[in-house]
Amino acid sequence: MLVGWGGNNGSTLTAGVIANREGISWVTKDGVQQANYFGSLTQASTCRVGSFEGEEVYAPFKSLLPMVDPNDIVFGGWDINGANLADAMSRAKVLDIDLQNQLRPSMEQMFPLPGIYDPDFIAANQGERANNLVKGTKKEQMAKIIADIREFKSKNKVDRVVVLWTANTERYSDIVTGLNDTKENLFKSLEKGESEISPSTIYALACIHEKVPFINGSPQNTFVPGVIDYAISQNSLIGGDDFKSGQTKMKSVLVDFLVGAGIKPTSIVSYNHLGNNDGLNLSAPQTFRSKEISKSNVVDDMVASNAILYKPGEHPDHVVVIKYVPYVADSKRAMDEYTSEIFMGGRNTIVMHNTCEDSLLAAPLILDLVLVAELLTRIEVKQDNEDKFHSFHPVASLLSYLTKAPLVPPGTPVINALAKQRAMLENIFRACIGLAPENNMLMEYK
Ligand code: NAI
Repeated sequence: MLVGWGGNNGSTLTAGVIANREGISWVTKDGVQQANYFGSLTQASTCRVGSFEGEEVYAPFKSLLPMVDPNDIVFGGWDINGANLADAMSRAKVLDIDLQNQLRPSMEQMFPLPGIYDPDFIAANQGERANNLVKGTKKEQMAKIIADIREFKSKNKVDRVVVLWTANTERYSDIVTGLNDTKENLFKSLEKGESEISPSTIYALACIHEKVPFINGSPQNTFVPGVIDYAISQNSLIGGDDFKSGQTKMKSVLVDFLVGAGIKPTSIVSYNHLGNNDGLNLSAPQTFRSKEISKSNVVDDMVASNAILYKPGEHPDHVVVIKYVPYVADSKRAMDEYTSEIFMGGRNTIVMHNTCEDSLLAAPLILDLVLVAELLTRIEVKQDNEDKFHSFHPVASLLSYLTKAPLVPPGTPVINALAKQRAMLENIFRACIGLAPENNMLMEYK
């Protein structure tokens, strides 16, 4: 169930999964295109499982462990705009028209449930979209989301529900002692209808109550300390924050490479312009600030790892700019300039220009987040000295490969470097089937 189901990401993912399930192909000016899952870690990438007679052997990532097949997913969710999913898909202007025409009959009967709208948390320019709303107090809104989840589950006869936030970026909530710092205080505040409780926090509380995994694909601090506290006490999976789809993914590769090569990045400047509704919402200062925070910490662990290059507390200049340019619609432009100090006082500048549909990058990540989160709830571990198996910590740091600002259990290091994040996931999958962690020593050939 997607929060923001009728948005560009929600409609694109729904369309993409139906197109794959039905084996749809469509005509473009370049020829016939088949549906695929390119960009999905689980559906389109492989893992090395060993070597045989000098040849490396790779298996599809999705085949390592019993993972839900995307064909078995039933989509549902909420949106503050009532458009059916076919109209949402055409509003998004992401997919080719021949594909849209083929999908329309399956999608026009899909209607999002009313969403929780609080104009204080998203940009004022979203007001005219808000025509499909949950009424009542904050407590009643939480009760309605719980009822929606239960009804969806029983009506569709699904085994499990996973909820993912792909709605508009909210502003940050203030963290205040007595308001949202513990689960008890948060529930007292909910009772009182405190204005600082955001819609995304209410959805998260409803999911944790139902022990339904909840993933936050946007940058805001949905997971205030009281929510984390509640998730831990319920042992209910939460994961986030903010899909790591393009610019940040490159950054978490490039800076890792530079610092790892002994080169010192000193200035990282990232411009973006985009013209979709996400861009419109981010044109307000408070919501932009959430994105700026989420994009800003991504090089911290790599910088901190190299005390030869950086003195304690030293950090590259890091600036992020986002502008709304309606004409480019969902085709986002990201331009990055990395300046580094090299040997003997030299300077090196790398410039990158990335153009592509934002939602075509994000949709496969949403699929991966949901499939991996569901799988993680079925894995149990124990150490040699423990009697009983237990689940992973409910704060799912294993999803960090897919998120810009990984949420990790309190007191745990945050890893942003992409290769390390993938290795964590891959090695845990390998461990589940009795394969040793991949160490790249290739001792068998030495
Ligand atoms: P969008 O604006 O097309 O879709 C968001 C949808 O959420 C809209 O249909 C809106 O009506 C709905 N909505 C807003 N508040 C709601 C609420 N409280 N409850 C229910 N529905 C609500 O945006 P898009 O492009 O689909 O992006 C969604 C989110 O994903 C944004 O926050 C964006 O920052 C984040 N994101 C997107 C990435 C990408 O597209 N590559 C990458 C990283 C994050």
